[in-house]
Amino acid sequence: MHHFTYKNDNLYCEDVAVRSIADALGTPFYLYSHATLCRHYNSFNDAFEGIDRLVCFSAKANTNLSILSLFRQLGSGLDIVSGGELFKGLKAGYPPDKIVYSGVGKRIDEIDYALSEEILIFNVESMEELDVINARAGELKKTADIAIRVNPDVDPGTHPYISTGLSKNKFGIDTAGAVEVYKAAAGLKNVNPVGLDCHIGSQITEVAPFKDALVSLCGLIDALEETGIHIKYLDMGGGLGITYGEETPPEPDEYARAIAASLNGRDLKLILEPGRVIVGNAGILVTKVLYRKQGKKKEFIITDAGMNDLMRPSLYNAYHAIIPVVKNSKDTIVADVVGPICESGDFLAQERPIHNVQSGDLLAVMSTGAYGFAMSSNYCSRLRVAEVMVRGTEHSVIRSRETYPDLIEGENIPSFLIGC
Ligand code: LLP
Repeated sequence: MHHFTYKNDNLYCEDVAVRSIADALGTPFYLYSHATLCRHYNSFNDAFEGIDRLVCFSAKANTNLSILSLFRQLGSGLDIVSGGELFKGLKAGYPPDKIVYSGVGKRIDEIDYALSEEILIFNVESMEELDVINARAGELKKTADIAIRVNPDVDPGTHPYISTGLSKNKFGIDTAGAVEVYKAAAGLKNVNPVGLDCHIGSQITEVAPFKDALVSLCGLIDALEETGIHIKYLDMGGGLGITYGEETPPEPDEYARAIAASLNGRDLKLILEPGRVIVGNAGILVTKVLYRKQGKKKEFIITDAGMNDLMRPSLYNAYHAIIPVVKNSKDTIVADVVGPICESGDFLAQERPIHNVQSGDLLAVMSTGAYGFAMSSNYCSRLRVAEVMVRGTEHSVIRSRETYPDLIEGENIPSFLIGC
């Protein structure tokens, strides 16, 4: 059951016409389907039925408080990468013992915050970080459960900016040297090495890279057991891809079956950190066509959403389907869909066959629930857009559109500039 569908040539999100929200709120805005969010979380979690596991939604994909609260209500834990995500997770009501903390550059204040909240586990990415966590835990009279993030050197076959498990990437510790790091951790007073972690990349559309990573992780778990270090938590990270266009990624069931088979009944708790697969196809970006323009070589559709609202096309050359909110025309044209920002990299699509939309028409940029709003910015002093959630026939603004005064919030003109 898809929750973004046409009824009489009008795009609906569940039982609400997308156009009616645009009429009420103006554009651009992100729009999320409650039913899709629930279905995606539940089908991912249910795929691991029978396995001791904790699904920790990866906050970086979408940190809206309502979305975080929804997954918390469905039983999710949270994967965080900053003090800010910890703050938002706690505000959304996540119990600290369902929060896992990854990232190569944790600051001392962030480590202290996570230690004092007693989160479940720190995914440690370097020897130096391990020493800092141990020292801070000692200072705060805490003991930190930690996992070492290893880099299994598998090629996830995805965009180079979002592959993380190759030996040339900055993430994790080389698997070959990991036993030594665990031994060092075991000798430290204030950390318990109880977990093993990896995250090999994002938008992965095959199960093979996950399986390859698991072979290497299971070998490491056995080697550690021989040295007396028992791994209680195995964190597989996130990374399962979605369909943006032609991709055919494995369904959660297939992914879960592959992982279960590789684990072969091992006595441990599996942690998963899915982001995109849960929220990606549960959200769209609704934008209005401002102008049509015939360039010398290309036709342009200029929209009121730009690269600051959705960075993925500019940054990764990512494909997002773009469809009309109301099908006014049967013809198609080939055009670049571009935003108002003063850069040629500001596009939502290039040389795209698209409906022959006119100024004032609305477009939906599909599959933008993950890394859409989360990566948006105020570049060019543009207001960050509203976020709306639909549930059945209701819709609710879950983040207001920013206003001009928001743009100067926190800025101060120093006295030496006043009166100049
Ligand atoms: N766990 C860790 C440690 C991660 O670094 C990530 C994503 C995830 C989990 C969630 O991965 P997912 O299930 O969403 O693939 N901005 C890029 C994606 C960057 C992913 C960063 N890490 C994009 O728009 O494609």
